Amino acid sequence: MGLGLKVSERQIAEGLILLSVEYDATTILPGQFFQLRPVDRMDIFLARPISVFSYNGRKLSFLIRLKGRGTYAISTADCLFLDGPFGNGFKLYPSRKALLVAGGMGLAPLYFLADQLKKTTIDFDFIWGVRDGTYVDAIKRLGLVIEARIVSEDGSTGEAGIVSDFIDEYDFDICYVCGPIPMMETVLGRLKEKKGSGVIAQFSLEANMGCGWGGCKGCYVEFDGRGIYVCREGPVVEVLC
Ligand SMILES: Cc1cc2nc3c(=O)[nH]c(=O)nc-3n(C[C@H](O)[C@H](O)[C@H](O)COP(=O)(O)OP(=O)(O)OC[C@H]3O[C@@H](n4cnc5c(N)ncnc54)[C@H](O)[C@@H]3O)c2cc1C
Ligand code: FES
Repeated sequence: MGLGLKVSERQIAEGLILLSVEYDATTILPGQFFQLRPVDRMDIFLARPISVFSYNGRKLSFLIRLKGRGTYAISTADCLFLDGPFGNGFKLYPSRKALLVAGGMGLAPLYFLADQLKKTTIDFDFIWGVRDGTYVDAIKRLGLVIEARIVSEDGSTGEAGIVSDFIDEYDFDICYVCGPIPMMETVLGRLKEKKGSGVIAQFSLEANMGCGWGGCKGCYVEFDGRGIYVCREGPVVEVLC
């Protein structure tokens, strides 16, 4: 069932919500997620998986796109059941140069990863691809600073294009990716075209979830020709390109 925790901060802007709780845990790795459920809504039986957006040892925050019943109920709850952290998280390679590629709300775990990488000597670049300016405006309204190169499909914010078109401009040997599956497949295709370069790519996969820990088999997806139970074997999968 998880810990029942009071929501300490809540900000909403254009379909995004930034939620925080006071949380005192052991280490949380970028790419790990929690299962969230509103305490006061017995009709929201299944918890929703949400990545850690930031954590400083006291305050744990989530950046959530309001999508359906679950995320709307979470957004208005005063108290949440929190279960986790779950999943393997991104693996850091200290001697490598990194490229972070986010698509849409795939931003959330990569924001936390970027924050952690800044505390290391690992050099990295960060690209965030969006469909249009909606999320970018929302992020600004939430007072968040995203130190990423922004590209948009409709050209209304940042540079025009899709993220996969820009990755050839960078020199890197580890690539961290999170976004919709078709976007990640396109990025994987581009990375494989660089075959022989020894690039390691880590993809954070998304799936609908039941239990979050390996009991229900509800989170099966296929990616790069492999079948994966996202909660137990992911959400991060590594591919040597
Ligand atoms: C590892 C991981 C990390 C994620 N991190 C983030 C993040 O940081 N930020 C973010 O915005 N999103 C994140 N997501 C996506 C987020 O979990 C979904 O957007 C969210 O679950 C949508 O829930 P909803 O109820 O609002 O939407 P809906 O579309 O209503 O529901 C989503 C799915 O939940 C299931 N479901 C809902 N209700 C029921 C029910 N009554 N019975 C059975 N199944 C039901 C269904 O399978 C449905 O398709 C993440 C997903 C994963 C897997
Ligand atoms: S969510 Fe239940 S097995 Fe993965």
